[in-house]
Amino acid sequence: MADNTARQLATDVPDLEAYWMPFTGNRYFKKNPRLIARASGMHCWTHEGARLLDAVAGLWCCNAGHCHPKIVEAIQRQAETLDYAMAFQLGHPTVFELANKLTAMAPRGIDYAFFVNSGSEAVDTALKIALAWHRLRGDGARTRLIGRARGYHGVGFGGISVGGMSPNRKMFAAMLPGVDHLPATHNLEHNAYSRGLPKWGAHLADELENIIALHDASTIAAVIVEPIAGSAGVLLPPEGYLKRLREICDRHGILLIFDEVICGFGRTGAAFASTRFDVTPDLITLAKGLTSGTVPMGAVLASAQIYDTFMTGPEGAIEFFHGYTYSGHPLAAAAGCATLDVYEDEGLFERARSLETTLEDALHSLKGEPNVIDIRNFGLIGAVELESMDGQPTARAMNIFRRCFDDGVIIRTTGDTLAFSPPLIIDEAQIAETVECVRNALRA
Ligand SMILES: Cc1ncc(COP(=O)(O)O)c(C=O)c1O
Repeated sequence: MADNTARQLATDVPDLEAYWMPFTGNRYFKKNPRLIARASGMHCWTHEGARLLDAVAGLWCCNAGHCHPKIVEAIQRQAETLDYAMAFQLGHPTVFELANKLTAMAPRGIDYAFFVNSGSEAVDTALKIALAWHRLRGDGARTRLIGRARGYHGVGFGGISVGGMSPNRKMFAAMLPGVDHLPATHNLEHNAYSRGLPKWGAHLADELENIIALHDASTIAAVIVEPIAGSAGVLLPPEGYLKRLREICDRHGILLIFDEVICGFGRTGAAFASTRFDVTPDLITLAKGLTSGTVPMGAVLASAQIYDTFMTGPEGAIEFFHGYTYSGHPLAAAAGCATLDVYEDEGLFERARSLETTLEDALHSLKGEPNVIDIRNFGLIGAVELESMDGQPTARAMNIFRRCFDDGVIIRTTGDTLAFSPPLIIDEAQIAETVECVRNALRA
């Protein structure tokens, strides 16, 4: 991969005022801008030319590393050949090619791909598929959706309704009706400093039986969970928990949706968390690593049983009244095809698996450092949870983030948890560099 570290940047900072930044303290940022001007492989460079090791793959998305030359070339080639083709009633070859490659990687029985532009759109699409599927089968009373406390499913109205992060919900009125939530699985009393999946907590899946007893199964369409929750602080499923959810859903005719927006594409050391945990849901939502973060794209993978139910009625009629202008956009599809090839050609999922214990050992070496109250990990996902400062939740983790940035490593914070999700191309020395940077920041 080309390393252009020698090239110095002299990017002028534009006027920052007009851009309303997402999930950002706008006023603080605009007084203390951190602009990323360039990236390659494991590194990013600020507008001032400082080099940073990216320990979070952008935002859990650049799994093949930044600006991978094969992905860049595929996007360039596609842009010269076909910029856009109407997404409804017309198609273009690359998006069919991508659907074939993607479903070939998916768990057995998951044979269809519907393309969207983001994780949030994937979630709303999956929820709509679930509702429509029951209705098509004459079971239209199944309208309830069950999410989980501390779940994150993007920011659409469907996603925040089934999601369980209070700041993302409280300003936005009543959202979707008929939603209920499972309890979160995170429990420090029983599971602090777990290596891999925590042992305690499979029984938390049984709470679904209580929710079913309350509402009656005949009113419930689907359960949606992240196999590993990322945005609410890297919350791991206890051993056996996901299998139990699957069994309960099967018993009651409820669809199971796995939101694999961050878990997909090697993050857990396998193509999908569904494969790694050997639990096959009915629908899988994807985004991020699908194009290694290069061009926005998401997808919903569906079982043949679901797709076939939609394929009824007159042959020329639209079967699912849903889609986006940019569903399966040519640039995204080209990026997706090249990305999936890179994952396979470079053995990146196997690489992630082989680095799992290196990351685990490195992170757990932070036990005993100031304010650390938990460390957890799975695949190439890690988290270090910190004791919150009195009356200032999130402040301690944010201080560590800023210190690490100034010292040359990008990490991510959620609440008072530091999260790690490096590109799958990371090496052992870079894992050590990340952890030592965090150690210094904690001690400082
Ligand atoms: C599990 C999960 N679902 C959905 C989303 C939303 O994805 P997007 O930001 O692309 O809309 C995210 C984003 O982090 C996510 O982690």
